[in-house]
Amino acid sequence: MDPEIFVTRRFPGEGIVLLKSSGRRVEVWEGRGAVPRETLLSRAASCRGLLTLLSDRVDEPVLSASPLLAVVANYAVGFDNIDVAAATRLGIAVANTPDVLTDATAELAIALLFAAARRIAEGDALVRAGGFRGWEPDLLLGVDIRGKTLGVLGAGRIGAAVGRRAAGLGMRVIYCDCGGGRREAIEREAGARMVSFEELLRDSDVLTIHVPLTPETRGRIGAKELAAMKPGAILINTARGPVVDEKALAAALASGRLRAAGLDVYEREPEVEPELLQLRNVVLAPHVGSATVETRAAMGTTAARNLLAALEGRKPENLVNPEAWDRRRK
Ligand code: DGY
Repeated sequence: MDPEIFVTRRFPGEGIVLLKSSGRRVEVWEGRGAVPRETLLSRAASCRGLLTLLSDRVDEPVLSASPLLAVVANYAVGFDNIDVAAATRLGIAVANTPDVLTDATAELAIALLFAAARRIAEGDALVRAGGFRGWEPDLLLGVDIRGKTLGVLGAGRIGAAVGRRAAGLGMRVIYCDCGGGRREAIEREAGARMVSFEELLRDSDVLTIHVPLTPETRGRIGAKELAAMKPGAILINTARGPVVDEKALAAALASGRLRAAGLDVYEREPEVEPELLQLRNVVLAPHVGSATVETRAAMGTTAARNLLAALEGRKPENLVNPEAWDRRRK
């Protein structure tokens, strides 16, 4: 019998148990790696609910594979992998997992900030290669964090959480929300000041990116913006890779215009720009912003609850397209 719910990859925690305990037929993709496109299309053609990862392309062909499909619950806060406009048009609910991963992602952004400023990955590589010959006054000099200015591009939940932590470390915090206006949380919790995009680039010692990927934010940090940044600044990206032009970033790092970068996300994941791989002043993490035991489990139960709510006719708590709800498929 066809499953009613298709989960594109097993994940930690109780989310799958929760789905199964609803009594509905659940299939979990158990193959190696990402679910093949044909499998996703065929399950979309018979399921009522899909639980997907940010690496699954949920586009119009998937969404329109059958009139039965009622909900796509993404196991991520970002949902740029889903054609939300098409889902809305078709009356399919789309949900995400905000809040539960805010702290983990903010912690990773701060970890990358320290790793980049204090050259931790370079030090690790040096020690492992047997290159540590004893204490030296100028070995792997980094820069202080205290007293520096953190610029937050995108001051939503995660941006505000990074700002709050940075303020606790003695950083001044400024932010720009890409046309989104004032953000009360970051101002109140981090004493942050709203500035223009130009000021953000000019005044930040560390620029940290927290905007979602949209047509407006794609390529937002390109060669021109990198050239407008403070000389010697550090760039941190834990949001989405395509917000930054990786080739331009590699050039800015190679020339020393930027001191360092810390990246968790890439333009064409899992590919990484080869020029970045050659550089020592960039710390590269494999998209692990939310990768803690607690957070991944919480993402799973959140996604499962969202999916079950929609199938049971209750509005999912994290519905991203409320306009779809009135014309939803039952
Ligand atoms: C998300 O949820 O969008 C994150 O990128 C996952 O780590």
